Amino acid sequence: MKLFIDTANIEHITEASRWGVIDGVTTNPSLIAKEGRDFEEAIHLITTLIPGPVSAEVTELNADKMIVQARGLAKWADNVVVKIPMTEEGIKATSVVSKDGIKVNMTLIFSANQALLAAKAGAAFVSPFVGRLDDIGQDGMEVIREIVEIYQNYAIETEVLSASIRHPRHVIESAMAGADIATVPYKILKQMFRHTLTDVGLDKFMADWAGMQKK
Ligand code: E4P
Repeated sequence: MKLFIDTANIEHITEASRWGVIDGVTTNPSLIAKEGRDFEEAIHLITTLIPGPVSAEVTELNADKMIVQARGLAKWADNVVVKIPMTEEGIKATSVVSKDGIKVNMTLIFSANQALLAAKAGAAFVSPFVGRLDDIGQDGMEVIREIVEIYQNYAIETEVLSASIRHPRHVIESAMAGADIATVPYKILKQMFRHTLTDVGLDKFMADWAGMQKK
């Protein structure tokens, strides 16, 4: 499974790029607003830090305007993927721009039916929001499993991008469900490195090594 980082924070992306395990970046208007940088400047910078797909989201709601904006965003860098929301207007826009070769990440997916429509419109990625479904008492991971099964049944090439990840267990469950990608906030990526027994074990190795040096 590929790992994307779900942030627009340049310091976090810079550090994560040095790990060598991050395959792409997802942003959304809320994440861009949180950083207080110019949208285009932020995306340009991110595309130079991570060579993989970098999602930049349209902010128009009408299909014709989305198409114009998507074509503009796609020109910012070769690795820009245009994020388009799952609405009727978004599906119209995706059907048009995906035929031009623009890669679309269809966002705000909350059901397998929405993912089926997004795939038929030519989206390269679908982003089901696992955590937000869990928040309202539904099983977000079940939606990932349904989409993976449907896409496998019909050899659909659209990649399943597990989004709205809230804890490290979500990453494991996404991988077990067969998601192609999980997009993970920086804090949760950092949690993935850690295990108490790793820390305890390393402390013991270092103490034993230091003891031997003194002899
Ligand atoms: C990524 O593509 C999504 O925009 C993001 O994962 C949403 O996460 P949230 O539900 O924590 O805002």
